Amino acid sequence: MIETKQAVLPAAALQRQREYAEKVRELVCRRYNHPPLAYVHSFGCQQNQSDGEKIKGMLAEMGYGFGDAPETADLVIYNTCAVRENAEDRVFGNVGALKPLKKQRPELLIGLCGCMMQQEQVAEKIKKSYPYVDLVFGTHALYTLPELLYNRLSGEKRQFSLEDSPGSIVEGLPVRRDGTIKANLPIMYGCDNFCTYCIVPYVRGRERSRRPEDVLKEARELVEQGYKEITLLGQNVNSYGKGLDEPMDFSELLRQINDIPGEFIIRFMTSHPKDCTLKLIDTIRDCQKVCNHIHLPVQSGSNRVLQAMNRHYTVEEYLHLIEYAKAQIPGVTFSSDIIVGFPGETYEEFLQTLKLIQQVEYSALYTFIYSPRQGTKAASLPDPVPEGEKSKWLRELLDVESQIRNHQQQALVGQTIRVLADGEGRTGPGWISGRTISNDIVEFTAPTSCIGSFVNVKIERALNWAVFGTLV
Ligand code: 5AD
Ligand code: SF4
Repeated sequence: MIETKQAVLPAAALQRQREYAEKVRELVCRRYNHPPLAYVHSFGCQQNQSDGEKIKGMLAEMGYGFGDAPETADLVIYNTCAVRENAEDRVFGNVGALKPLKKQRPELLIGLCGCMMQQEQVAEKIKKSYPYVDLVFGTHALYTLPELLYNRLSGEKRQFSLEDSPGSIVEGLPVRRDGTIKANLPIMYGCDNFCTYCIVPYVRGRERSRRPEDVLKEARELVEQGYKEITLLGQNVNSYGKGLDEPMDFSELLRQINDIPGEFIIRFMTSHPKDCTLKLIDTIRDCQKVCNHIHLPVQSGSNRVLQAMNRHYTVEEYLHLIEYAKAQIPGVTFSSDIIVGFPGETYEEFLQTLKLIQQVEYSALYTFIYSPRQGTKAASLPDPVPEGEKSKWLRELLDVESQIRNHQQQALVGQTIRVLADGEGRTGPGWISGRTISNDIVEFTAPTSCIGSFVNVKIERALNWAVFGTLV
């Protein structure tokens, strides 16, 4: 195996875990008079969902089947998110709800992993106040699940694996994907940007790119398995390739994936505007399989706030990218993340964000009230605006978003658009749900046999959450 400057986990370390996995398989086979069941739930972003699919892959190798509720499971794993306080509260609520279950069935094993566990104060809290939790492991220790599970199953004390680390790349872990039509494909891990509000660089380590040959191999396998939509994942895909042995960037990777034969589409997230190049926009234009949709989180429309966030771009630079993309890519749409109420943000600065939203006309916004994260720079800034006031601003923003959305949805009426049919619709029996290239929901009447294929739908009416039409 060619070693790159990126820290790929040595094959021997993974082999050791495979041996533990085999031992767990034998142990659970003897211990339970039924095939053991696991309930795995991942909170947070797609990167975390992708980690959850690896956890399930490892558990399947260890002989576990999967249930859809903790009540019937022999092992519960919560893969946690630390991005905002309410994400953490939700996890603590769910873990608290397991206490009576553990009391009824002391043999139930409970594991917590993911971003929250990578924070020292959280791990300490679990240690002290949640004695019924059996396994605690951070993002860097994910691949050691077989060893931790084996130790605990064979009677050792509670297992904590929380070392801080710049992180490595673990190739070759088994994956049990949640869907059969859409797949997540991580191309890089970690983050080096240190936006002042964000916990991610502290819990997911330094930025590191997978080797292109590993990414391409996985992409080809996905296409062969019949996946129709591949989402390339990374905290900042636009800086893909830094530190690799051979010169490589995200545009080149996109081109090579686009060249894989087959009918499928490519999405990617997340793009940091500071690293979004005109070359990348040209690549999106030129690559037929790459969706004409860019998730380009701006966070704020005020240059002062952007600087305080350490974002390394101005509103003017951001708008230049948007204008260039609009000129180059017919029908391009954008989505963004927005933080409302960053420490010290004034109402006037918030209004600048509203103005930017109206200028860009995003097709979707993911909006968050600022949440202080211990250890980040912004958490120590004065934050005088009360929470109630920030909620008012957020409602104002959501009204503007809703108007833009309404307008965009109405504009689709009469058009025939290409849709990936991805499941049964919410409207009722006979209805199928699909997504447009811009990720808008389309509901249409069609036989269920079309699920998993691309179809053309003539749009006839629009509501705020979806547009409706018939198969052409
Ligand atoms: N408070 C609120 N929102 C946050 N995000 C990240 N950190 C915080 C925080 N501390 C948002 C950003 C990011 C998205 C994934 O979550 O908008 O793009
Ligand atoms: Fe994803 Fe960030 Fe939440 Fe971790 S903290 S799960 S990286 S959103």
